[in-house]
Amino acid sequence: MTLLDWSEKLELDHVRMDATHREFVAQLNALHVAPEEEFIPLLDAFIEHTVAHFEQEQQWMREIDFPPIHCHTSEHEGVLNIMRDVRRMVHDEGKREIGRVLTRELAPWFENHASGMDAMLSFYLRCIESGVDPRQAMVVQQQAAGVDQNPCATGACHDNTGAVSTASPESELR
Ligand SMILES: [Fe+2]
Ligand SMILES: [Fe+2]
Repeated sequence: MTLLDWSEKLELDHVRMDATHREFVAQLNALHVAPEEEFIPLLDAFIEHTVAHFEQEQQWMREIDFPPIHCHTSEHEGVLNIMRDVRRMVHDEGKREIGRVLTRELAPWFENHASGMDAMLSFYLRCIESGVDPRQAMVVQQQAAGVDQNPCATGACHDNTGAVSTASPESELR
């Protein structure tokens, strides 16, 4: 059984982001069923792909002055730190089961991250490409949906130290 099936809800209407996310899901699924001797090489390739995946999104965020860049980047860094910690525990300490815990926990983390932070980035990128002010478009969209403005949309979820006010992904994976 596949760990995480690609579905419409993971499509974010951004060709490059969606292509990278499909690769992420395929690598995650392959890692989850990898035989023991292939786990570390596949995890290394997955980490390398994830570094490039996150760096691409962070470059887009810098280019468009994306308000919640700190939230989004902090979450990327937290997940990469966990992936590297797990690599060390499996490779150096022989804790093989923690590798399976990582893949199991990354599946819901990715669904949540893609439908939240990545979806908002895709929305901003598409607005800017169309010549629309994304902040105004988001306010209109939220008013139409009858919801309060998401503090992440304006970067207000951070205090002036840049600390994240939301739960870290580490707590989700532990
Ligand atoms: Fe992403
Ligand atoms: Fe992201």
